[in-house]
Amino acid sequence: MKTKILQVLREKGDFVSGQDLCSQLGVSRTAVWKAISQLREEGYEIEAIQNKGYRMGNVPDTLLPHELESIRKTCWAGKKIFYYDHLESTNATAKKLAEEGAGHGSLVIADMQTAGKGRRGRHWNSPKGEGIWATLILKPDIEPGRAAMLTLVMAMAVTRAIERVTGLTPQIKWPNDVVLEGKKVCGILTEMSMQTDFVNHIVIGTGINVHNQEFTGELADKATSLDVQLKRAVGHEKKKVKRAELLEAILEEFEINYKKYTETMDISLIMESYNSYLVNRNKMVMVLDPKGAYEGLALGINETGELLVERNGRTERIVSGEVSVRGVYGYV
Ligand code: BTN
Repeated sequence: MKTKILQVLREKGDFVSGQDLCSQLGVSRTAVWKAISQLREEGYEIEAIQNKGYRMGNVPDTLLPHELESIRKTCWAGKKIFYYDHLESTNATAKKLAEEGAGHGSLVIADMQTAGKGRRGRHWNSPKGEGIWATLILKPDIEPGRAAMLTLVMAMAVTRAIERVTGLTPQIKWPNDVVLEGKKVCGILTEMSMQTDFVNHIVIGTGINVHNQEFTGELADKATSLDVQLKRAVGHEKKKVKRAELLEAILEEFEINYKKYTETMDISLIMESYNSYLVNRNKMVMVLDPKGAYEGLALGINETGELLVERNGRTERIVSGEVSVRGVYGYV
């Protein structure tokens, strides 16, 4: 019912009479009043004037399911939401839910993670209310070898969505870090359960630093948040990002490219689009190969998402997960 109230008030953008709300929702005035009181407790500003009805004011920065559902435009991504105030890790919970039968497109969200997981066994800092810590469950009908690209599709979706919602211009650091001014704002951790030629499920976990104000220790000169970048950006409206709006935009962008990727075998468009966001493209990079680090020129990705690096006239193919790549002088 809260979802429907939010939808009706948003759509009207003006006062909606109590009577109209009751008839549209098919419930009593008391029930409407109760739901509106709850929404107010959550931080929604809803004006109520006698003989005029209710009007929506400011909306809180929340990822509660009714907020996301009331602005949803996607067909399947995020259709079913599992929301938690706190979790150890949304990836861990998503894997469990996927095994228990949660469907394709289910989304696991936590307002805070107590043991957020990063790549290469690292910890992912996920303070309460400060970011988007969410995992999308996919059950695609593709061969396991084609799955790595889906992480890159998510990196692109995050990049486009940040651009759309904030006006900032993010880039991608191969394979799937999203960066702003050379600092990491988003990390993606994909985990797959598969059989030889069959994918059981894939979980794509995305962590985006939104409201974090400072980063300390080893993150100090490597990480950033949207708030920090918006404050620095000259000429940008100093607007506060609403996490729900950003998450919805990510899901919309993901759906578009997921369809392109899974329905056509020609992935050149996805490749070109990904490469156009690549911060390392045509730059010298340091390839941290366990067999020996070397420098080379990053050319872009190929059809399977490997990074092509030119080294002494030869083109090396770098597989994500096996080798990491960084800038010659630092992170990017
Ligand atoms: C990285 O190391 O760059 C990947 C970070 C991924 C973090 C996200 S936050 C939501 C999801 N749940 C986790 O435990 N990790 C991912």
